[in-house]
Amino acid sequence: MNVTTSTPATVTERGPAAFFKTRMGSFFAVVPLAFWTVNHLWNNLASLRGAHAWEAAVVQHSSPFAEAIGATIALAPLLLHTVWGFSRLFTWRPNAVSYSYYGNIKFILQRLSAVGVLLFLGAHIYLAWIKPHVFEGHGEEFEDIAKEMFTSADGPTLIVYVLGTLGVSYHIGNGLQSWVVGWGLVGSRDAVKRFEWVAIGTFVVLLAMSWGGIFGLYTHGREIVAHEKASASAAASPSASAPVAGGNAP
Ligand code: HEM
Repeated sequence: MNVTTSTPATVTERGPAAFFKTRMGSFFAVVPLAFWTVNHLWNNLASLRGAHAWEAAVVQHSSPFAEAIGATIALAPLLLHTVWGFSRLFTWRPNAVSYSYYGNIKFILQRLSAVGVLLFLGAHIYLAWIKPHVFEGHGEEFEDIAKEMFTSADGPTLIVYVLGTLGVSYHIGNGLQSWVVGWGLVGSRDAVKRFEWVAIGTFVVLLAMSWGGIFGLYTHGREIVAHEKASASAAASPSASAPVAGGNAP
C-alpha cells in the first residue's frame, strides 16, 4: 500500500483530550487550512491582471473586522496543525516491510515538505503580512512584491517562493490522501490506489496556481523595473526628450 498515514498508532488512546490531540490537528489541516490555501492561491492569480486586480483580491478587505476574521481562520488552524505535525514529525520510522518503496518515499517527503513549508510560511507571513502591517502601517503593495519577485534584491525571493509553493502543493496533495484514509472516507486498497490520481491532480493544480501567481508578479515586476530605468535615464538626460529652448524661433 502506498498511503502514508500513521493513524493506527493512535487508536489505543481514549478520551476527549486524546481525540483532540490525535484528530483535530489532522482535521484542521484540511478544514479550513487547505481550503483557505486554495482560495489564497486563486486570489494571487489576479497578479496576472495587474496591480489593481491583485490588491483588490489579496490585500484589500471590506473592514478591519473582516480582515481579523480572515487572519484567524488561516492562522489558528495553521498553529494547531503545526503543533500536531511537530508531535508526529519525530515519531516516525520509514517501514520497508509494510509500505512499498514508493510509499516510503512519499512518507518521508511529507515530513521533509512539512519542514520546508514551516520555514517558507514563517518567512512569507513575516515579510508579506507582519512587516508591512506592523512596521510600515499598510498592507503589502503590488509594486513592492512584484519588483522583489523580479529583482530578488532583498534575498533569494523568487527561488524561495518557487520552492516553498512546491512544498506546499506536495504537502497538501499527498496529505489529502492520508487524510481521507485516516478519516475512513476511503477504505479498500483499490479505492486508495484510485485516490492517488486525486492526490496527484491536486498537487499539479495547486502548483500551477502557485507558479501562475508568481509568474504574474515576476512579469509585472520586470515591466515596473524597465519603466523605472527608462524614466531615470530620461531624467538624467533631459535634453534628449525636452523640446529645445527657442526651437520655434525664426
Ligand atoms: C499550508 C499549511 C499546511 C497545510 C494546508 C497542511 C496540510 C496537511 C494535510 C492535509 C496533512 C494530512 C493529514 C492527515 O494525514 O490526517 C498533513 C500532514 C502533516 N503535516 Fe501539514 N499542512 C500544512 C503545514 C504544516 C506545517 C507548517 C507542519 C510543520 C511541522 C506540518 C506537518 C505535518 C506532518 C508532520 C504531517 C504528517 C502527519 C502524519 O502522517 O502522521 N504541516 N498536512
